Amino acid sequence: MINRYSERQYTGAPIPQDVQAALINPKELRQLAVAECRAVWIYAPGEFDNIFTGIIGSYGKIRGASGVIALIVPDNSGQMGLLEAGYLGEQYVLRATALGLATCWVCGTFKYKTLMGRLSIGPNDKLVGLIAVGYAAAAKPKTPWLLHRIIKRKSLEQIATGELLAGDEWLKQAIEAVRIAPSAVNFQPWQLSGSVDRVVLSPSRSGAFVYVDLGIAMLHFAVSASNSGKSGQWSVGKKMVFCKEEQICQQ
Ligand SMILES: Cc1cc2nc3c(=O)[nH]c(=O)nc-3n(C[C@H](O)[C@H](O)[C@H](O)COP(=O)(O)O)c2cc1C
Repeated sequence: MINRYSERQYTGAPIPQDVQAALINPKELRQLAVAECRAVWIYAPGEFDNIFTGIIGSYGKIRGASGVIALIVPDNSGQMGLLEAGYLGEQYVLRATALGLATCWVCGTFKYKTLMGRLSIGPNDKLVGLIAVGYAAAAKPKTPWLLHRIIKRKSLEQIATGELLAGDEWLKQAIEAVRIAPSAVNFQPWQLSGSVDRVVLSPSRSGAFVYVDLGIAMLHFAVSASNSGKSGQWSVGKKMVFCKEEQICQQ
């Protein structure tokens, strides 16, 4: 999680077969199980430049990606589909990072029709977005990580209540893991509240991709918690609640 950042300039170099296999056939995948979601790997080194655009805000155009992962959910799955896509997709992002690959979530800056030349989806499917994958053109991100975090991220106090931040060390680390997660237009639309035993995640704004961002945040939180030896899971009902496995997650 700490090594991940959004890369937009790739070399277009081929990804060895075994690395591709490790990326797209993970041994296990976590699920929120609130919607169906599938990830489709499209591999075509250097051939995606006509699919990506660079028009939203200050985003640079993505060049030289070797592959993309397309995240597809049922058309009628609403916010739950977006949540599941964020949760699933970020696992590929973290796996790619661990394999020495760079990534960028792309939900806005691509040409849908051009992509459809390489991906066919059913009439009841919805494409949530893409994850560009490849080898970074520069060895290191342009902005060093520490600076990146200071200038690009909300403070812990802006995304979590004092009660949670005063809680256990594992919880603080899990909140930090949410803080460094990627989000569309870097909005960081997450708010954590509740108690140490029952952490509640809520959106702090509205927007087309907010529930994708929330799914990503839930994945970072869950991975960090389990890295700290905490078993626990998200329950999605009226609220999104993380609680210890042995407890009943009360909505
Ligand atoms: C759901 C989602 C959609 C995104 N869509 C785009 C996009 O369309 N184009 C793009 O260049 N970056 C996109 N990004 C990348 C964000 O701009 C990036 O995560 C954010 O600025 C934080 O920077 P970082 O990922 O380097 O930490 C997206 C990220 C997420 C999570």
